[in-house]
Amino acid sequence: MAQLLITGGAGFIGSHTCFSLLEAGHNLVVLDNYSNSSSVVLRRVAELVGLKDCKRLKVLQGDIRSKEDLDKAFSAGEEPVTAVVHLAGLKAVGESFNRPLDYWDVNVTGSHSLLRSMQRHGCRTIVFSSTATLYGLPKEVPIPETFAVQPINPYGHTKAAVEQLLGNLVNSEPGWRIACLRYFNPVGAHPSGRIGEDPSGVPNNLFPFVSQVAVGRRQELQVFGADWPTPDGSAVRDYIHVLDLAEGHSAALEFLQREKPQLLILNLGSGRGYSVFEVVRAFEQATGREVPYRIANRRVGDVACSIADPRVAQELLGWQTKRTLEEMCQDSWSWQQANPLGYGCAE
Ligand code: WQD
Repeated sequence: MAQLLITGGAGFIGSHTCFSLLEAGHNLVVLDNYSNSSSVVLRRVAELVGLKDCKRLKVLQGDIRSKEDLDKAFSAGEEPVTAVVHLAGLKAVGESFNRPLDYWDVNVTGSHSLLRSMQRHGCRTIVFSSTATLYGLPKEVPIPETFAVQPINPYGHTKAAVEQLLGNLVNSEPGWRIACLRYFNPVGAHPSGRIGEDPSGVPNNLFPFVSQVAVGRRQELQVFGADWPTPDGSAVRDYIHVLDLAEGHSAALEFLQREKPQLLILNLGSGRGYSVFEVVRAFEQATGREVPYRIANRRVGDVACSIADPRVAQELLGWQTKRTLEEMCQDSWSWQQANPLGYGCAE
């Protein structure tokens, strides 16, 4: 097993990925600036994995844009870091229109700073958190990795820019093993209800908003458009359980460690789409709670339908999603019921 550095390991994707990587036997150093998370998250991950000592999970508060913080992180483990899972970044599409400088600074300058540190520390294996958002308006679905990269928002542009940099790197310097994982819609939570999605402020995304309506924290869901060219008029997305996504990171890492140096670009999705109305119905059935909603205007930047073609990840990694929409709803609800205010007031 390996000594890994996980950037952004205290976030929604990060905490579940740390859980999966610890379960797979790896030792982790986590670097997180807690801009969108808190230290309690990783204490709960350690509890879920049943860690007896802190040697296997070292946590540093710090920023990927700081050379000093990165040098500390690379030296904090029991062994030299052999691979990085890079999850730190800003990821709200709507917010990125208002904060492009922050998004380019954190996502692009931060990734550049991390790659420089990896070079300095002789580490050339990285799994990078990319996004399906960089496909922009897909001309058809399902979407294979060969589709044009044509982002339509600053967030997508930053992820496309880092993928471009990683491509330049793998061609310029021998020995780099790189996987860019293009997430579709990560949702759900660990079934224990101890870790989950805890967006700050009003949730941008559908699942946390529906969960907060169900628990009574929000009054009603706004459905952004019921006049899309889809079977029931509401927009369709490829939802993937966050634990399936986390296991995809573990599988990609194992592939990189056993295969020759290369750049891998993979969709992480189920290949199955669900509409907003189907999600609302599934959530009500899974939880027994009503989710009142009203139809609102379409949201700027939305697309009618986004569904992954996940065949490359299946063929190369032997990975595919296992968890159902019902499990995504049940696990979201377990988390929300146990943490109605998120980690906010957690000890
Ligand atoms: C899903 C559907 C909305 C909220 C997200 C992230 C992006 C990327 C992919 C990581 C859409 C509708 C939503 C609401 C609604 N993740 N909706 N009412 O936009 O597909 O993208 O996942 O890289 O960062 O933004 O996900 O959950 O926001 O929306 O009707 O209150 O639900 O219109 O059709 P999206 P989402």
